[in-house]
Amino acid sequence: MTKVVGGVCGALLIYLMGKWAAETVYHVGAEGHGEEHAAAYVIETDSGEPAEPEPEVDFAELMASADAGAGARVFNKCKACHKLDGTDGVGPHLNGVVNRDIASVAGFNYSGALAPIGDVWDYDHLSAFLTNPQAAAPGTAMGFNGLSSAEDRANVIAYIESES
Ligand code: HEC
Repeated sequence: MTKVVGGVCGALLIYLMGKWAAETVYHVGAEGHGEEHAAAYVIETDSGEPAEPEPEVDFAELMASADAGAGARVFNKCKACHKLDGTDGVGPHLNGVVNRDIASVAGFNYSGALAPIGDVWDYDHLSAFLTNPQAAAPGTAMGFNGLSSAEDRANVIAYIESES
């Protein structure tokens, strides 16, 4: 009897260990495969459509329903560098920036990277720049990652406008 039980237990143990080993190997293989797929997918979308944020109409619509109060909270991300009282800090003052000529604050030492964006800071130029400053104006001195949420961009622009 003891021998039989021992034999069964031993067989079971070997079976379980074999199963575990097989699963471990299988899992590693599966994960490696999955990562390859994910990377290929990311590269495809990246090279496919990087420069197009969202249609202009949508942003104008967002501006129409923007919430300046919520924008005040978003502006906390800008405060370290930008003021709204007409004085400059690390960045130029932003009161009046909507429809202001791009890079036009007298006495502020701009990088020169903003000029290619255009002439005037309209909503669309502001939105494009704030989405990803380094992509919109390569070499800009604005060390900020950007606001990926269109709603945040609309709200912060509305707040700046309301404080101007
Ligand atoms: C780490 C500092 C920093 C932060 C944070 C920052 N900025 Fe800037 N910003 C700058 C600098 C510096 C410039 C000038 C860029 C240049 O000359 O290339 C600038 C330029 C700008 C301009 C162009 C102004 C002009 O006169 O043409 C706008 C608009 C702007 N920032 C908006 C924002 C907003 C909105 C935020 C927050 C969501 C923000 N920035 C966060 C530093 C900053």
